Amino acid sequence: MASPTQKARLENKVAIVTGGARGIGECIVRLFVKHGAKVVIADVIDDLGELVCQDLGAEFASFIHCDVTNESDIENVINTTIAKHGKLDIMVNNAGTLDAPKLSILDNEKSDFERVVSVNLTGVFLGTKHAARVMIPKCSGSIITTASICSVIGGVASHAYVSSKHAVVGLAKNAAAELGKYQIRVNCVSPYVIPTPMTLKFHNIDESSSVYSNLNGKTLRPQDIANAALFLASDESGYVSGHNLVVDGGYTVQNPAFGLFSLKP
Ligand SMILES: NC(=O)c1ccc[n+]([C@@H]2O[C@H](COP(=O)([O-])OP(=O)(O)OC[C@H]3O[C@@H](n4cnc5c(N)ncnc54)[C@H](O)[C@@H]3O)[C@@H](O)[C@H]2O)c1
Repeated sequence: MASPTQKARLENKVAIVTGGARGIGECIVRLFVKHGAKVVIADVIDDLGELVCQDLGAEFASFIHCDVTNESDIENVINTTIAKHGKLDIMVNNAGTLDAPKLSILDNEKSDFERVVSVNLTGVFLGTKHAARVMIPKCSGSIITTASICSVIGGVASHAYVSSKHAVVGLAKNAAAELGKYQIRVNCVSPYVIPTPMTLKFHNIDESSSVYSNLNGKTLRPQDIANAALFLASDESGYVSGHNLVVDGGYTVQNPAFGLFSLKP
């Protein structure tokens, strides 16, 4: 629960978090519950998802097995949530994946590209579509997609990943343009690098590794992304739609080639 001095910001709200069994998604689930929401976790890792729900209590969090690339799985999550809670206020499209760090496009296989795009883009399309289906009649809702700094710059991850993350921002803008007439807001939150199971493998780092930070001495944590998602989910962001909230401590606004005015190679 939010502390006595803290106002619960999602009281009486119902949320779905895809990819909520671990990493950033789990942190979003925990913060949403702390702020009064009932949360449904939709993920493919059943044991971890169930553990998070047990820890939070069945009244506050429940798990549904769901592969976001499968439309009938997504439909089932949305329909089961409506059957259980009567409504859906917040949809967080957070499930994501990354392929192997093959630097040359020549080494990148079509099948790997399609797998990443299928989870990171098609999964978000399906989540947005079916959330909109139940939010439109209510004329209310907040849809949030976890994108990445790879939605605004290149050269940080694989071609498939960067393509998919640029694409979800386009999808969010298009959905925001369409769904505004139903007072449904659609936004993205874009993290910088956080050591989670996904990035540890890709960047070949461990949990204690320090990652470059433009905010000297500060490290980005899943909690920072959960806080940004909480803002986009809550009524405090009531007039924010079509926005990509980049949470990177200023990493993407600088051009490293100039290194504070230096033109040396
Ligand atoms: N960790 C970072 O540095 C970072 C940076 C920018 C963006 N992101 C994004 O944040 C989101 C969460 O990533 P994370 O770092 O917590 O990684 P993670 O691997 O810890 O968590 C991802 C979750 O998504 C689930 N998932 C994967 N494929 C799925 C599918 N087909 N259907 C349902 N669930 C599926 C996984 O089971 C897992 O629970 C992703 O969209 C990722 O691209 C992460």
